[in-house]
Amino acid sequence: MAGIDVGIDLGTSKTTVYIKGKGIVMSESTAISYDAYTDEVIAVGNSAGEMLERMPDTVELSMPIKNGVIADFSVVQQLLTLILEKICGNRIFKPNVIISTPAGTTALQKKTIIDVACASGAGKVALIDEPVAAALGAGITIENPHGTMIVDIGAGTSDIAVITMGTVAVSSSFPVAGDRMDEAICQYLKRERDIVIGTPTARKIKHTVGCAFLPGEEVEMAANGKNYITGLPEMFTVTSSEIYLAVRECIESIMEEMRNVLEQTPPELYSDICHEGIYLTGGGSCLKGLSEAMKERFQIGVHVTQDGANCAAKGAGYALKDMDALEDKGLLFKMNEKLPFGML
Ligand SMILES: Nc1ncnc2c1ncn2[C@@H]1O[C@H](COP(=O)(O)OP(=O)(O)O)[C@@H](O)[C@H]1O
Ligand SMILES: [Mg+2]
Repeated sequence: MAGIDVGIDLGTSKTTVYIKGKGIVMSESTAISYDAYTDEVIAVGNSAGEMLERMPDTVELSMPIKNGVIADFSVVQQLLTLILEKICGNRIFKPNVIISTPAGTTALQKKTIIDVACASGAGKVALIDEPVAAALGAGITIENPHGTMIVDIGAGTSDIAVITMGTVAVSSSFPVAGDRMDEAICQYLKRERDIVIGTPTARKIKHTVGCAFLPGEEVEMAANGKNYITGLPEMFTVTSSEIYLAVRECIESIMEEMRNVLEQTPPELYSDICHEGIYLTGGGSCLKGLSEAMKERFQIGVHVTQDGANCAAKGAGYALKDMDALEDKGLLFKMNEKLPFGML
């Protein structure tokens, strides 16, 4: 077997890797931790992500993607090199790689991502717009002249896009998504209950009792925090209604941005969306009651795709099936077969 074909979704929180013929082989935190003095890598992926808010001063944690955009290219290069080394071992042929990039990525950023991927050990590199990849991964047919609205709620951004004929017609990469909900939960508990918690605890609370729609049935969970007044540890119970109140503003602003995108959508595409409904992908689409809240707001069907968090990586992987055909359709930004010596 020659080189392998790899689809990569570089998300704010998770990097997911799809290999043609194998499926999803890796889904790890987009994080690397270093020794602050020697710059030596201590941990990569989930084991680095677990260090969030738990590190001593001697350790530095880098999460190089901020709000869906690469903020630190050298860390991404290091991360991609480690991923490609891990999945390719000591193969002679370099892997073909397709990377999904958020809808708002500029041409210059795209160029830099290609250079970084080549310098990380990839052979042929191509990019695909994340909404297109997410739609492909969700099994939606996107090549025909038909409007499809796809809303990918990730950690840093909610990527809202209307796709037709395999390309993005209208889109927005909106910086309110899972991370902002975690922040909102921390702030709510501090304000209303005098309890201080860290982001990982807020995330656990969101996953367990979070909801976007006033819950019919109350669910509660116990968690540990610190009392803001006394400074002492406190075990507390939090209910789904409280978390609904905490995240309500975030949900409202995401829906407002969806309305803005719909407003800019040409009428024919809009009417396709009204018939077909809106597709939700990304880890944030798992928030309970989210589809109900959107259905009520837009009076349009809302479908939550299976395995939402992996859709973009899967779609990038599916796009590998026919790189040439995709390039003809303009789905790929650029193929780079040269090794970019001295490019970085
Ligand atoms: N069951 C759940 N309920 C609410 N949010 C969830 C759930 N599962 C995952 N998430 C959130 O989804 C976000 C990660 O989604 P993902 O699509 O992997 O993001 P990215 O592509 O930006 O890395 C995180 O904010 C995470 O807390
Ligand atoms: Mg994503």
